Amino acid sequence: MSGTVPPYSAWEPTLAAIMDSDGPVLLIGGMDVGKTTFTRLLVNRATALSRRVALLDADPGQSEIGPPGCLGLAFAEAPVASLSDLPPHALAFIGNTSPAAYLLEHAAGVRRLADLADAALLIVDTCGYIQGAGARRMHQTEFDLLNPAHVIALQRGNELEPILSPMRRRTGCRVHTPPVPEVIARKSVALRTQRRAMRFASYFGSAALHSYSFDDVSLVGTWLGGGSSLPPHLLKFVNQALWPPARVYHAELSDGHLSLMVSLPLDPGLQGLSLVQQELKNRSLTATVAPRLKHLMLGLESGNGKLLGLGLLEALDFRRRTLGVLTPIRAPQAAQIVHFGTLRLAQDGREIGSLRPGEL
Ligand SMILES: Nc1ncnc2c1ncn2[C@@H]1O[C@H](COP(=O)(O)OP(=O)(O)O)[C@@H](O)[C@H]1O
Ligand SMILES: [Mg+2]
Repeated sequence: MSGTVPPYSAWEPTLAAIMDSDGPVLLIGGMDVGKTTFTRLLVNRATALSRRVALLDADPGQSEIGPPGCLGLAFAEAPVASLSDLPPHALAFIGNTSPAAYLLEHAAGVRRLADLADAALLIVDTCGYIQGAGARRMHQTEFDLLNPAHVIALQRGNELEPILSPMRRRTGCRVHTPPVPEVIARKSVALRTQRRAMRFASYFGSAALHSYSFDDVSLVGTWLGGGSSLPPHLLKFVNQALWPPARVYHAELSDGHLSLMVSLPLDPGLQGLSLVQQELKNRSLTATVAPRLKHLMLGLESGNGKLLGLGLLEALDFRRRTLGVLTPIRAPQAAQIVHFGTLRLAQDGREIGSLRPGEL
């Protein structure tokens, strides 16, 4: 803080306008424009007036509620120093820190969490993904699902105009464009990554290994379990055709598409592949490299669709038909659904890499 001018005085008129009305309130803006800071001021202003606030954190990257890779909902009844002090009431799984390839999951998560907000003033903080057609679709969908009374659009130039243009034409919604105060600072990519790693590390700090039988859970976000497993004699044939170089641990056929879990990347020109195609008459193929699934982020969901928490894939054993998952959740046996994400994490929270959509 510098000088005598309060750092966020330019936001005063917008904050006051919202206090006079009902929500929902939707925050939109690129990275580091003050969305989360504005959200905190709004939460604190409303709770100081004894309003009950529901905060929906729709940013799976720089998360405040719950670990990254998820969306989170929290209730506030008193002002807070940091939004991350609020305990999560519910989470929704995205499986990556960028929503770009998960627009459906993101939209479903936003609406499902908003449904839990009850009569509280709903404030929705979003992520900095604003460039391109995908970002426009995401924000327009958020808008349509939430029907906000206020959109707070924070921009340093005119970068939000393509997103705001249709919103400005909607009746029943006010679009506010308060300026970005000078104190709002840009964070380096390294700092953002480090901040996520710290949140992941603290989340997985108390994790323990739990083993799930394939028979006790359903898998989502992967081809695994989505087709019919090859009978043993055909799996043996595929193994013989592709060895060397690759071992095939598991294979499924679904509507002419063959999916293989293999020990190493397959060269598309590999002779054994055409042999397999002739025999199985598959039209297309996915070959998932098993070692690339190690430490994959998983969402563990209960029978009522609630995200119980995250896990990291430690082992996938097709002979024993078990899944080894490292997770801090207290009752891992309550999980009915294992939702595969695409981000890979070390237990200390570092991001190892991401699978491509379609790789799994
Ligand atoms: N009064 C302040 N003094 C210094 N830095 C601030 C102040 N207010 C906000 N910031 C910093 O500005 C950065 C961007 O703000 P933030 O609200 O997180 O933006 P966004 O949610 O749009 O990415 C953050 O790192 C935040 O700590
Ligand atoms: Mg933010």
